[in-house]
Amino acid sequence: MVKLLMSTINRSASQFIASVVSNKRVGQYHQLILQVGDIVTFCKPGNFIAIKVGGESSRMILRRAFAISRTSQSSSFGGTIELIVAPFGSGSSWLCSQPEGSELDVVTPLGTAFGIPTEPVKALLVGGGYGSAPLFGLAEVLKLRGCKVDMLLGASTGGKIYAPMEGKRSANSLRIYTEDGSMGEKGRVTDPIWALVQDNAVDVIYSCGPMPMLAAISKLVEGTDIVHQCAVEESMACGVGVCMTCVLPVANDQGQVSMLRSCIDGPVMDGSLVQWDLVGQVHEVHQ
Ligand SMILES: Cc1cc2nc3c(=O)[nH]c(=O)nc-3n(C[C@H](O)[C@H](O)[C@H](O)COP(=O)(O)OP(=O)(O)OC[C@H]3O[C@@H](n4cnc5c(N)ncnc54)[C@H](O)[C@@H]3O)c2cc1C
Ligand code: FES
Repeated sequence: MVKLLMSTINRSASQFIASVVSNKRVGQYHQLILQVGDIVTFCKPGNFIAIKVGGESSRMILRRAFAISRTSQSSSFGGTIELIVAPFGSGSSWLCSQPEGSELDVVTPLGTAFGIPTEPVKALLVGGGYGSAPLFGLAEVLKLRGCKVDMLLGASTGGKIYAPMEGKRSANSLRIYTEDGSMGEKGRVTDPIWALVQDNAVDVIYSCGPMPMLAAISKLVEGTDIVHQCAVEESMACGVGVCMTCVLPVANDQGQVSMLRSCIDGPVMDGSLVQWDLVGQVHEVHQ
């Protein structure tokens, strides 16, 4: 079985003001670059940022979480991070409307990061919608480690595939799936996975996207030696382990299930331990 260097919660998190270096519309998303200074050295693929939204007089008291897509230590602005934001509700739409030079109150880097293999392996990266965000930076890290990196990106329609050319540059191969067939192959991003598993083309799967996609991948690799690292996206209110809104049922090595906070025990989790059938249900579990 593949050995991964696992990370625990990032203890370098801090709250500070980050300025918006650029805000570009890319398809149905916004690519935001934030100036974060030296903190960038602690940001790992899988970590996220919690951003205060709505300005000073806003009623939106809860920060919104966004995956850190990529980092740069050498830009002319010093340390920067890239986010891919889908304008959805009030918080994300406010964020997408922030012009260059705006200042944001942020807390980062939060959560666990993707485990990195100790040896070169065959890695399959699977992203659904904006779930591709943390996979581009991860692909670069894995390639530097000598891994073969294949990427599958999927969405309901072509406009929701973030920057397909970026995917091509970051990975050794890229296949795109859309449910309406408007880009790449028609179907779901999970469709080719079983064939790849049978061809022995995968040692580790890294995934990020909607929970049903993560659950489907876990089911596909059940009973195999394939490691599945998934970045879960459970609703989060505090983002720092206090409020318990983000809990998920997760088994330990002895099979005991407890409710873990996906903001500090995740977002990256071992997909084989998450009790996907119990997600969203209230069950009697060991605390
Ligand atoms: C780890 C993680 C990574 C994410 N990465 C990305 C990313 O890369 N790109 C992206 O576009 N989105 C990402 N999201 C989703 C993002 O955090 C927001 O949920 C999404 O942008 C919608 O927020 P909104 O403010 O537009 O919508 P709203 O409908 O206003 O709020 C959506 C979410 O905000 C929280 N919330 C708002 N109001 C309340 C309330 N009264 N009580 C409790 N909770 C409330 C809940 O989490 C809710 O699901 C991520 C989420 C998580 C948890
Ligand atoms: S979001 Fe509050 S405990 Fe996780």
